[in-house]
Amino acid sequence: MESADTSTTTSDDTGVRLRPVGEPDLAMLRRFCVEPWLIGLDWAGFRDPGAPARRFAVDGWLGADDGRLVVEVERDQAAGIVSYTSRRNSGPASYWEIGIALLPEWRGRGIGWRAQALLCDYLFTHTPAQRIQAGTHPENVAEQRALEKAGFQLEGVVRACEFRAGAWRDGYLYSRLRDDPPPAALAG
Ligand SMILES: CC(C)(COP(=O)(O)OP(=O)(O)OC[C@H]1O[C@@H](n2cnc3c(N)ncnc32)[C@H](O)[C@@H]1OP(=O)(O)O)[C@@H](O)C(=O)NCCC(=O)NCCS
Repeated sequence: MESADTSTTTSDDTGVRLRPVGEPDLAMLRRFCVEPWLIGLDWAGFRDPGAPARRFAVDGWLGADDGRLVVEVERDQAAGIVSYTSRRNSGPASYWEIGIALLPEWRGRGIGWRAQALLCDYLFTHTPAQRIQAGTHPENVAEQRALEKAGFQLEGVVRACEFRAGAWRDGYLYSRLRDDPPPAALAG
């Protein structure tokens, strides 16, 4: 299994950065567990608000098979988190599934697509993975567009893949491969 080396901070020229979770970020992570809709359409009911601190104590949220990084913006403010989880089909090699949640006040400012592009750079740099995938909801136009701007391509509709808000719902599956073109917005 690949291990994600998070000893370095990744940044682009807009000031959006990814960095490891720190103690002061635990309050934000707790909020995502107990504030309905703060996390967006992925809200799936209340979760144990003590879990983020327990996980932080184990490995600082920097596991070999899954982890989280804080999306940091101007004046070192935490705007949200990105996540990565190792998944495997058949065979010996794994791929990454990524996720993101920005706090509402930071949405719609060009941070989400950049953070996901940075996470791809980070994972492709520090692990040999060929594939990074991300799922989103048919009604989540912001995430669809953010993924496309981060260099992802739509693979298709995954029917009835999640039970959410009282019903089974379809999802959209996106991927970015190591040798796909880099995000057009960052080219040249
Ligand atoms: C989804 C999310 C990560 C997108 O990040 P963001 O910073 O808000 O989006 P960006 O500012 O980078 O915008 C990327 C593109 O989406 C568009 N966009 C942003 N918000 C939009 C909205 N509410 N409706 C339609 N398009 C939107 C932007 O205009 C931009 O496209 P453009 O350059 O062609 O104009 C962020 O809104 C978020 O955290 N939402 C809640 C959690 C969530 O839904 N996570 C994903 C779960 S699958």
